[in-house]
Amino acid sequence: MRAVDYIIKKRNGEKLQEQDIKELIAGYVSGDIPDYQISAFLMAVFFQGLDFEETWQLTNAMIASGIRFDFPEIEGIKVDKHSTGGVGDKVSLLLAPIAAACGCKIPMMSGRGLGHTGGTLDKLESVPGYRVFLTEGEVRKILADDGYVMMGQTEDFVPADKRMYALRDVTGTVESIPLITSSIMSKKIAEGSNALVLDLKCGSGAFMKNIDDAKKLAEYIVGTAKAAGLKIKVVISDMDQPLGRTIGNYNELLESAAALQGNGDERLMELTYRLAGWMIVLSEKAATMEEAVDMAKKAVASGEAFKLFLQNIEHQDGDIDYVINPKKLYKYSKTIYAQKNGYIEEINSYDVGIASIYIGCGRRTKEDTIDHYAGIEVLKKVGDSVVKDEPIFTLFYNEGDIETAQKLLEKSIVISDNKPKKNEIIYEEI
Ligand code: URA
Repeated sequence: MRAVDYIIKKRNGEKLQEQDIKELIAGYVSGDIPDYQISAFLMAVFFQGLDFEETWQLTNAMIASGIRFDFPEIEGIKVDKHSTGGVGDKVSLLLAPIAAACGCKIPMMSGRGLGHTGGTLDKLESVPGYRVFLTEGEVRKILADDGYVMMGQTEDFVPADKRMYALRDVTGTVESIPLITSSIMSKKIAEGSNALVLDLKCGSGAFMKNIDDAKKLAEYIVGTAKAAGLKIKVVISDMDQPLGRTIGNYNELLESAAALQGNGDERLMELTYRLAGWMIVLSEKAATMEEAVDMAKKAVASGEAFKLFLQNIEHQDGDIDYVINPKKLYKYSKTIYAQKNGYIEEINSYDVGIASIYIGCGRRTKEDTIDHYAGIEVLKKVGDSVVKDEPIFTLFYNEGDIETAQKLLEKSIVISDNKPKKNEIIYEEI
């Protein structure tokens, strides 16, 4: 069949056969099927969905598009953590050294910013020199030496996802349960992990805006992990306000460094310790969650996790001076103030995420370059009291559409007269 026939089939809500999916993905990766046809296919999937069987077949077709890793020389369980994407979500940066300090082995394949959400690779690359594209030999050596390695997707590692991820970002097709499932799971299965902890974000700054959608995505992800023989734990966490104190790239990296030195935001640390705890339990380094969280906290208190963080930055060729002696690499700053007295009822994280793109923290088109040193500091949390003209956000930037960013940040804040009930950081574990 021609590519257009598969697009029409899905557009009309029909089920695709395994062979259809294989041909589409293989044709896309070989260059026979162009971006515009895959964009149309992605939009058809966005509206019509894929059932679990089709999603599993898509995941496998994506894995088959490139190479797979395997680490037989590293004894024991290889574990990874992945987030479905959030605003201010820097958890991977601090969680990897914490879990590694507790004996976990983590080959972490991370992504770039997607839609309004930030990406771990962009944050790491804010340290001059830091390389996320490594040779196979380097990956093995860094994993053995540091207990974790941070990798970007090379051209030959699940290339189908690499290209579709970038297309989805600019075609309004990110928020799709089967597409998120196949994107995440193809990478996690191909990277050679045996266990996965998934931080499934739910709320205004997440791709899953409500708990029912979050649970449906969890069901697809758990089903795919089980079919692939991967141990999995899904933690559904709150993304109804930005996570931590900063949004951007370099500033989130510095916030992570501070958190590893004992100065972490409370909600950020609660989530990080819980996710690290599951990594430690799935890796069989602790028998109970209590013991695992205790180990994670000790890894921070002893300085061991921060030591590994710096060691990894050096091993991946980053200049640790940028971490030890923070630099001011933006020209301008602007403060956004409260418009009235009251309590912060809402900080719409989607609006905050989009505002960060307007000052250069993320991409508007596939080809855009980002400004690693622009960012937003979030000075208030949901539930805090504020008085009129008190600062709520500070923007740091070099260039960009500041007016739009400012309007979005002002719009993101709802101030009410009554103290609102705060969401717990963790909603549910599956
Ligand atoms: N993370 C991914 O790797 N893929 C998605 O589609 C969403 C988040």
